[in-house]
Amino acid sequence: MLSKLIYASQAVRPCSESDLESLLVAARRHNASHGLSGLLLYANQSFLQILEGELDELTALYARIVSDARHTRLRLLVSAPISTRKFACWSMGFEQIDERQMSASLPGFMPACEYPLVNPALIRDGVVAETLLDLYQRNAQQPA
Ligand SMILES: Cc1cc2nc3c(=O)[nH]c(=O)nc-3n(C[C@H](O)[C@H](O)[C@H](O)COP(=O)(O)O)c2cc1C
Repeated sequence: MLSKLIYASQAVRPCSESDLESLLVAARRHNASHGLSGLLLYANQSFLQILEGELDELTALYARIVSDARHTRLRLLVSAPISTRKFACWSMGFEQIDERQMSASLPGFMPACEYPLVNPALIRDGVVAETLLDLYQRNAQQPA
């Protein structure tokens, strides 16, 4: 059954560009060969991810993600059947909310440590999480 899964989590330490790149390269390779699609948001040491695919594939991947030592405080927000994919083009789209860049270009921009966009303490509600992921879907980078 085609399904979606959304969870929030906290990275155990700030992720560097190369941490994120190696995570994404491996994730995209696996997801592409297992019919999985989705989007991963990262900001201020917090992750928010949507995964779409067959339920057995999602369940197997989520079990691996849960036991991944790179993050903690996972909260499953949504697990539900879907009729169509919203993120079909992405084996794993990715958006990093770059606060330093935004602070430089947007006077008065409040960094996420003061106004957390993706912090799992804030994203407690599945509808809020999905709305945020949908908004970023428009801007997310295509895989290389
Ligand atoms: C925030 C986060 C998101 C991840 N997303 C995926 C993903 O979409 N696909 C994937 O295959 N691995 C993903 N991973 C990596 C998995 O947790 C795991 O390391 C990988 O599937 C390899 O599993 P294995 O070491 O049990 O073989 C993610 C890890 C983190 C921390």
